[in-house]
Amino acid sequence: MQPNFLTPEICHQIQRDFSSPTYVYSEQELSDRADEFLSFPSAYGLTVRYAMKANSNRNILKLFHDKWLYIDASSSYEAERAIAAWVAPEKIQISSQELSESFTELVKTWVFFVASSLHQLEEYWKAFPWGELWVRLNPWVGSADFKQINTWGWISSFGIWHEKIDEIKHVAEKYNLKITKIHIHIGSENTPKSWVKSANIGLDFVRAFESVTMLNMGGWFKMAIMDYEKKADLQEIGKAVKKSFEDFYAETNRKIHLETEPGKYLVINSGSFLAEVNDVVDTGKYGYKFIKVNTGMNDMPRVPMYGIQQPIYIIPNTTPHPQSLSSQEREAWMEDYVVVGHCCESSDILTCQLHDQEMIEPKTLPKAEVWDLVVVDGVWAYNSAMAMKNYNSFPESSELLLRKDGTIVEMRKRQKLKDIWMNEVEVI
Ligand SMILES: Cc1ncc(COP(=O)(O)O)c(C=O)c1O
Repeated sequence: MQPNFLTPEICHQIQRDFSSPTYVYSEQELSDRADEFLSFPSAYGLTVRYAMKANSNRNILKLFHDKWLYIDASSSYEAERAIAAWVAPEKIQISSQELSESFTELVKTWVFFVASSLHQLEEYWKAFPWGELWVRLNPWVGSADFKQINTWGWISSFGIWHEKIDEIKHVAEKYNLKITKIHIHIGSENTPKSWVKSANIGLDFVRAFESVTMLNMGGWFKMAIMDYEKKADLQEIGKAVKKSFEDFYAETNRKIHLETEPGKYLVINSGSFLAEVNDVVDTGKYGYKFIKVNTGMNDMPRVPMYGIQQPIYIIPNTTPHPQSLSSQEREAWMEDYVVVGHCCESSDILTCQLHDQEMIEPKTLPKAEVWDLVVVDGVWAYNSAMAMKNYNSFPESSELLLRKDGTIVEMRKRQKLKDIWMNEVEVI
């Protein structure tokens, strides 16, 4: 297997011109994934919202905005960040666990609001009696790849519990609120069958509200990161879901607009991480061999949080140690390594068992030496945006963009050390 787009030449060029650790994103890949999603089949219209929580760098927001993708913001701060990146407010929706004070100001600029609890619904009508809003519901059923990312059923606080539909209708009727969109995000991964199941759950909710004209089916489209994974077939899923919407129209005479809200499918493989080997150590004959790298949970938190897998590659240094092996010898010499991050935390590992972050799992890699480069693929979603920033006072890493024409530019500078304590106030 080869890295997605970071060839050894590009890696060495980056190390020379910018240095590691750094995220590197591919403009071509981002653009291709957006085009792919925009051709998702739909019966009566389609809106694709980028779930900006996946990665909120202003350049990606601009790139997707230029492509006519809309935005899903998970907080008022995200909505304000999108507006600061020149996204038109009317293309943004807020669906948030927390109602911030600025939500009324944002709604006044035409940002759309999704009520995710009865309390939010009430706060909305207080600010906007006779207003139009959207509602997120939590059904009793859904599908999740692993338990940490579950967003439906009894154990989830996301959205209004489906048995409270009468209460929602009561509030809406009493205060003349117009509910025009139902929102669900219940996970369906890659089979058309599971997406049809989600569509039918959503359409059942739509049936309960006469004024609803749109169904947002959330994100969670599977993207293959490891070679054994299979990505969602958007055309197949889209065709199957389209049929559900057509059947709904035949039954109710209501044409429902479809929204999707992908995050990781759009971006995850568009970004890789370039790091350097700091050290190679072992714990004896019955122990493990460890590669220590100049990154870790402060840049890539998804392994210690969820036990996900990411492809890792060793790129030999161009100026080898005096005693080092030739690149051919190294290619031929494979070792089982546990790759660990630089944080002073035993859970800072990059190679663990799938969905069991506490169990280390060695990976077979070419023999590694100090100063070799390391590429980690599939890191664009929920890494830079979710980083355990500044732990051990490691500065936030830079973000580079590999442009379509092959040039490389900085999209975010590496944080300066003194910026870490910038907001501290000396009181002692
Ligand atoms: C409400 C909502 N929409 C969309 C997404 C995007 O999901 P994904 O990145 O899996 O496509 C998420 C992710 O958690 C979410 O919570």
